Amino acid sequence: MKGVGVGEKVYAALRSVGAYTPQRCVSNKELETQIDTSDEWITRRTGIKTRYFATAEQKSSDLGIEAAKVALQRAKMLPSDIDLVIVGTLAPDFIAMPSTACIIASALGIHDRPAFDISAACSGFIYLLSVAKAYIESGMAKNILIVGAEKVSSVLNPQDRGTYILFGDGAGAAIISATQDKELSILNVHISADGQYQDYLMTPRSEINKKEIMQCMSMKGNEVFKIAVHKLADEVKHILEECNMGPKDIQYFVPHQANYRIIKAVGDLLNFDSSQIVLTVDKFGNTSAASIPMAINMLYENNQLKRGSRLLLDALGGGLTWGSAILHFDGE
Ligand code: UT7
Repeated sequence: MKGVGVGEKVYAALRSVGAYTPQRCVSNKELETQIDTSDEWITRRTGIKTRYFATAEQKSSDLGIEAAKVALQRAKMLPSDIDLVIVGTLAPDFIAMPSTACIIASALGIHDRPAFDISAACSGFIYLLSVAKAYIESGMAKNILIVGAEKVSSVLNPQDRGTYILFGDGAGAAIISATQDKELSILNVHISADGQYQDYLMTPRSEINKKEIMQCMSMKGNEVFKIAVHKLADEVKHILEECNMGPKDIQYFVPHQANYRIIKAVGDLLNFDSSQIVLTVDKFGNTSAASIPMAINMLYENNQLKRGSRLLLDALGGGLTWGSAILHFDGE
């Protein structure tokens, strides 16, 4: 990896974003025909109206590659400019190896550079940001491609109405680059985890007919809901305090898109105005590590993101893992 000039104070900045949404849109009405649920229940309890599912042939890497191409192009960068590729996914192409990051890097023409995956489920994007920030501030890299690539449908049990209705597929990518301008940088990232809650949200392996291994998500939805509201409210409160800021100092609050009721509860507890809160859960459902970059991408494509826009992020997911970040957009 390339080094950065010795002795210069370097910060990490969000240079560009990109996203990819699979073509097939699945409405709540369509799910009503497959599983014991209703559009009314899903809308009232989650805020979700539609989600998108990848094709049988598409893998998480395929979604991630498309999102990464957009992020590279918007940053006006070539694959050779990238020093490191990191991917957050709960649905890697292969269980053990190669990593989805290696597959994405190679498809983009990024060779002879480190690439690895992070397993932090729905908190993946915030974990990616924290690693990218540390690599850049330590001078170990100048330009890092981070990708949340999630074919979540590949680990869903179509018979489990407690999870099947919640999730969707998608990918979001970002380029994190070195800058000397603190005012345009990633100011603070906080991540945490507590494995005592591991069985609240997991993808256990089960044997079918002594031949096939199935790996499907199971979730104690109610318990996760309560922990999410409490932990995320704490997270946001602390990161704002650490940065000596209040809700009014934030332009856009971009929470992980798991459930509208969680987002609203945290927003209300911390006195955010609904106009500050970015919502995509109605359209995409929960796309795990892709949800935050897909939401930032929506802001970008709606022309709402300007150089210097200040964002607050939060997420909680399997592990349990959670985290938050305060950062600026440093792109065009
Ligand atoms: O991104 C990772 C983090 N994940 C999350 O943050 C998800 C957190 N959890 C949630 O979002 C919510 O707990 C769920 C949306 C999963 C469930 O909502 P809930 O309000 O907590 O419902 P519940 O589990 O307490 O179930 C209420 C009722 C039950 O029926 P009874 O026992 O009251 O007769 C369920 O069987 O709703 C029933 N139910 C459904 N009904 C129709 C559960 N799922 C469905 C469904 N359609 N899909």
